[in-house]
Amino acid sequence: MDKIFDKKIDRSKNEEKKWSVEYLKTVFPVDYSKKVHNLSIADIDFETPESIVKAIAERANKKTYSYGYVQNAAIDAIYDWYKKLHNITIEKDMIKIVDGIINSMMEIIKVYAKVGESVLIQTPVYKPFQEVVENTQRKLIVNKLIYKNNQYEIDFDDFEKQIALNDVKIFIWCNPHNPGGRVWHDDEVIKIIEICNKYNVLILSDEVHGDLVLKGEHNSILKWRDKAKNFVVVNSPNKGFNLAGLYGSYMIFSNQKILDQVMEMYKHNRVMTPNVFFQPAMIAAYTNQDAFDWLKAMKNYVYDNYLLIKSELSKISCLHPMNMDASYIIWVKISANLDWVELKKIFFKHGVIVNFSDAFAYAEPGWFRINIGLSRPELIKAIDEIKAIFKELNLY
Ligand SMILES: Cc1ncc(COP(=O)(O)O)c(C=O)c1O
Repeated sequence: MDKIFDKKIDRSKNEEKKWSVEYLKTVFPVDYSKKVHNLSIADIDFETPESIVKAIAERANKKTYSYGYVQNAAIDAIYDWYKKLHNITIEKDMIKIVDGIINSMMEIIKVYAKVGESVLIQTPVYKPFQEVVENTQRKLIVNKLIYKNNQYEIDFDDFEKQIALNDVKIFIWCNPHNPGGRVWHDDEVIKIIEICNKYNVLILSDEVHGDLVLKGEHNSILKWRDKAKNFVVVNSPNKGFNLAGLYGSYMIFSNQKILDQVMEMYKHNRVMTPNVFFQPAMIAAYTNQDAFDWLKAMKNYVYDNYLLIKSELSKISCLHPMNMDASYIIWVKISANLDWVELKKIFFKHGVIVNFSDAFAYAEPGWFRINIGLSRPELIKAIDEIKAIFKELNLY
């Protein structure tokens, strides 16, 4: 199947942020008449599996696009997917399908933390984690991750201290972690649960990168349902199957009380059902064998991309790519003392677009994130250009 992923696809006419010059030129000052290596944005340069494309086309051909409702087949598909991919049995009654992960976080925050009350995040992390807290006028509490042995570790003393000191109501957890690519281990998950139980903190577990664990298993909080008192999992097939533009997601609740409270808030605030194409796409993704096989093959391909880029970038002595357990994003530390603004300019001059530290919540300067969900020939060209950048800086 590797040949499918080796193919360079042209997304420039798909009106998507990643490759549409109309959009890109408003954000990145790059010469678009020359070769551009866009390694930003967490989506993939691979075509979505055929059965999903077919399901979307079939829905489009029905020729009306009005309000939808939550379909039983969609709930069944989520249930089957968890069983098949993660070997987890979930309760169908505890699933609710809605219109996007970040949107659902806002509703959950409004239920479990009053204005001015505290919500904790572990940083650095995907920036909207910070924004949802600040935009809802809750107090943002930060527990900094520790960079050690090429990966992030949790500072549990500080985690507990921040929770106790600030009477934290919600912990928004990135599981697996973006941008660190980290899958959390059993002992870490257990400790998080014990501390959150002790202080009655709701765990809001964002598991959107969970289908993309490259080796080993995704450590969903659902595996620990018997231990964890109060949690909500937020998830969707968007990352695994490149469906982010369909604006849909789902929540899985630890118990009926939390479900009722959150859904009550939804009723007041939002249209609950997702885009009309989301459910057919998700059902196709989660139930067709070709999509399942495609995901497996894609992850193997991305893992080989990871091994390649890690070994190539490690040849540049000031670059330290982090270990990546999950997803297609690799977080790279630059140990040289460089002028941040100048560095960005050099990247842009070479047509290389990445996400620098300032795109993440509370990330220290000196890091950048590379998206490696692309064909290997394109990745090799991008690596060569990154080497050229560090050559120009006399660092390679
Ligand atoms: C950790 C994480 N959560 C949520 C999202 C976005 O989810 P949605 O588009 O459904 O709001 C992303 C996108 O990159 C992400 O990395």
